[in-house]
Amino acid sequence: MHGVNFDVLGGRNAEHYGGISLTELEVKIKQFARELEIEPSFSQTNHEGDFVERLHRAGESADGLILNPGAWTHYSWAIRDALEVVGLPAVEVHLSAVDEREEWRRISVIRDLCIGCVQGKGVEGYREALELLKERVR
Ligand code: DQA
Repeated sequence: MHGVNFDVLGGRNAEHYGGISLTELEVKIKQFARELEIEPSFSQTNHEGDFVERLHRAGESADGLILNPGAWTHYSWAIRDALEVVGLPAVEVHLSAVDEREEWRRISVIRDLCIGCVQGKGVEGYREALELLKERVR
């Protein structure tokens, strides 16, 4: 689940996000998932309420979640509460090394609900996240 501003990923700071578009990112994730025999589905929204509602419904179709909520990671208690309700194993992923950037990015309101956090590894981080989930779900 991609959060806010991921629809314009290709136009964001390439130093942090690699200059990759959301479509290119999803192609890579699909490739990793195929190798791991996982069936991925994707979602992106810029609306916090939509993200929350998609989390509420996630249990109907998913065994686990990979979340990159973007900036919401750092302050959305609504997303945190929704994640708690879902109760699915979840991995927090960030393309950039959020813990080494600005002070405000070092805060994650979802981290303690997640089975792991992968950051600063770019697209490859999603492979690691899928591996973590696979291990937990099997
Ligand atoms: C991000 C890091 C966040 O701080 C930022 O707001 C993003 C992207 C990342 O993937 O590195 O939108 O989640």
